[in-house]
Amino acid sequence: MVTTAMFLCVLSYFFLMAAAIKPRIFEPRIFDKEATGFGPIFEEEPLDTVYAEDSPENKISMNCRVRANPPAIIKWWLNNWEIKLMEQPDEHFSLVGGNLLITNPEKSKHAGKYVCVANNVYGTVISKEASVKFGYLNQFPTDEREPVNVKEGQGAVLLCSPPSRYPSEVMFRWIYNDFPNFILPDQRRFVSQTTGNLYIAKVEASDVGNYSCFVSSPTIGKSVFSMPIPLIPQIEKEVKRYPADIRVKFPKTYALVAQNITLECFALGNPLPHIRWRKLDADLPPNYEVSMNGALLHLLNVQYEDEGSYECETLNVKGMDWYRQWLYVEGAPEWAEHINDTEKDVGSELTLRCVAVGKPQPWIRWLKDGYSYGKGELKFSSLTFEDSGMYQCIAENEWGTIYASAELRVVSCAPTFIYNPVKKVLLGAENGRVVIECKPRAAPKPKFIWKRGSELLTNSSRMLIWDDGSLEILNATKSDEGSYTCYAENDRGKSNSTGTLTITEATKITEAPSDTEAVVGDSRVLQCSASYDPSLDITFIWTVDSYVINFYTDFEHYEQLMGHEHSGDLLIKNIQVRHAGHYTCTAQTIVDNATAEAEVFVKG
Ligand SMILES: *[C@@H]1O[C@H](CO)[C@@H](O)[C@H](O)[C@H]1NC(C)=O
Ligand SMILES: *[C@@H]1O[C@H](CO)[C@@H](O)[C@H](O)[C@H]1NC(C)=O
Ligand SMILES: *[C@@H]1O[C@H](CO)[C@@H](O)[C@H](O)[C@H]1NC(C)=O
Ligand SMILES: *[C@@H]1O[C@H](CO)[C@@H](O)[C@H](O)[C@H]1NC(C)=O
Ligand SMILES: *[C@@H]1O[C@H](CO)[C@@H](O)[C@H](O)[C@H]1NC(C)=O
Ligand SMILES: *[C@@H]1O[C@H](CO)[C@@H](O)[C@H](O)[C@H]1NC(C)=O
Ligand SMILES: *[C@@H]1O[C@H](CO)[C@@H](O)[C@H](O)[C@H]1NC(C)=O
Repeated sequence: MVTTAMFLCVLSYFFLMAAAIKPRIFEPRIFDKEATGFGPIFEEEPLDTVYAEDSPENKISMNCRVRANPPAIIKWWLNNWEIKLMEQPDEHFSLVGGNLLITNPEKSKHAGKYVCVANNVYGTVISKEASVKFGYLNQFPTDEREPVNVKEGQGAVLLCSPPSRYPSEVMFRWIYNDFPNFILPDQRRFVSQTTGNLYIAKVEASDVGNYSCFVSSPTIGKSVFSMPIPLIPQIEKEVKRYPADIRVKFPKTYALVAQNITLECFALGNPLPHIRWRKLDADLPPNYEVSMNGALLHLLNVQYEDEGSYECETLNVKGMDWYRQWLYVEGAPEWAEHINDTEKDVGSELTLRCVAVGKPQPWIRWLKDGYSYGKGELKFSSLTFEDSGMYQCIAENEWGTIYASAELRVVSCAPTFIYNPVKKVLLGAENGRVVIECKPRAAPKPKFIWKRGSELLTNSSRMLIWDDGSLEILNATKSDEGSYTCYAENDRGKSNSTGTLTITEATKITEAPSDTEAVVGDSRVLQCSASYDPSLDITFIWTVDSYVINFYTDFEHYEQLMGHEHSGDLLIKNIQVRHAGHYTCTAQTIVDNATAEAEVFVKG
């Protein structure tokens, strides 16, 4: 099990001060890993490995590299059993860094699923499962192969009957008489990479000889070949013609999106048949290529819309043949959204979500510190410290499995106003509404109390203490001036912060514009003057039908007259029809504003 670390938000603050970084924004928060340490992160995970049974190299290395602070302890599991190297030393297993080295591997003991598990005080993560399999390619049987007697002009099929092997993906070629005299496929001859068989569309007298099927496994680097099959053409006085007859038929195929796929189709016949490909419901995908005289259809970078029924059609003068089969396009999981390291306040809500795309639709499951922790979305209604740890979401379908890992830190701290104190200078307009914000950093959420001087404030018809801590004062008067202190307290401690409220004279329009009529080409002045608090500055803003007038770009028609400091009269020059409308003057200070309105009518 994991020791739960208790995190304090203040820790990161001291780091910030030391590094002289600007106060950071707290939602969403990612803790500072370098300052506090962090849970394990995989830098290298073990990969599926095929070990050739008779390999000269007598070692397998399953790799696992982890970044963590403090350093992680790495353990390995094989088929859900921990490999306990400390308690039970094993001549086959050794640890080199985090890598598991398997010396002189044996199929019965060492084949299986390996998982690397990394742990430190912050939690535990497990790697992707990686399999170790033993690869082999058996010899062909040494029994003599039956000769194949065929009439000249007829088609022939030489069966490869490949030996058992792992992995099953191999390359097939045929040797003619002597190694290394390989048959080069042409319009007449074709080697199926599905069955290994050699197809000769129409046999000629010169085909006489011995044929061996040659199988190579690229994965284990080994090749074997069969006993020779004698081919004996029967010479005919009059060579007959045969209709097209499809013998190589691509099986029902699953392609993975973004990969390349090859479909094969070959026909016997005399004269040599032509092969044509098509897709039943649509044109062939744009990225298709045909090779081997039409026997192979390659689809590059397959897309979901390439799924469908494909047909090969072959034809010669004696007749035609066709074959259809379905190609499915599916996809391994990929992340559309995944978890990231997160720091959250104790008591707060949290949803951890991972979304993967793929076909079939991947399913999502969770691990916390290496143990199963549910499916779908993880919802926490009120976080506790025990929720801290390493989380992994896993998306799987039959084509693959992907992991995303992240650390969750649940933090608490006494209220602090360091990041966001109450404003020292608070201003409100006479008769106006004042809101004084109180937003300390605190976890869990604190209780708030407000005082003016030493007087405790409570909810009343004119005062409200909001749930988020802010204080609202309605219809403020001079008598509300004074020093206001917000006190915040939770189970971890308390703090306070103070500001001084000054109530300024309300801004009022003293001379308002009046409705005006004008003829095109005229000039008109709209008056606007205001009284306001002498300690403040004032600006006048004019709008027409709610568009703010820009005196820089529209200087040909609009000018602001600076008669005296209380006025912001508007001069409209060379009036056009489009200048008719509803004009608004707003006199504005940093504390409040006042507006007045008038209509301008223009006769064309
Ligand atoms: C085929 O092989 C057999 C035995 O190895 C040999 O006797 C025969 O001559 C070969 N045939 C040809 C056409 O090379
Ligand atoms: C598909 O084939 C193209 C061209 O031969 C090649 O460049 C590409 O790497 C192949 N893609 C895959 C996923 O193998
Ligand atoms: C996780 O981080 C990545 C990159 O940093 C970002 O693209 C992604 O949106 C983040 N996911 C969430 C759920 O915040
Ligand atoms: C004051 O009233 C508001 C609104 O009704 C309420 O949300 C808030 O909790 C009250 N504050 C106190 C301290 O009672
Ligand atoms: C605040 O003033 C407005 C008029 O300015 C008045 O209608 C309202 O009743 C006043 N509210 C209080 C709580 O005094
Ligand atoms: C208010 O906070 C200051 C430190 O900022 C502290 O010295 C003082 O005791 C606090 N007042 C109360 C009543 O908690
Ligand atoms: C004028 O003050 C009101 C609040 O009293 C505010 O909603 C509005 O945005 C202000 N107008 C301007 C132009 O600042």
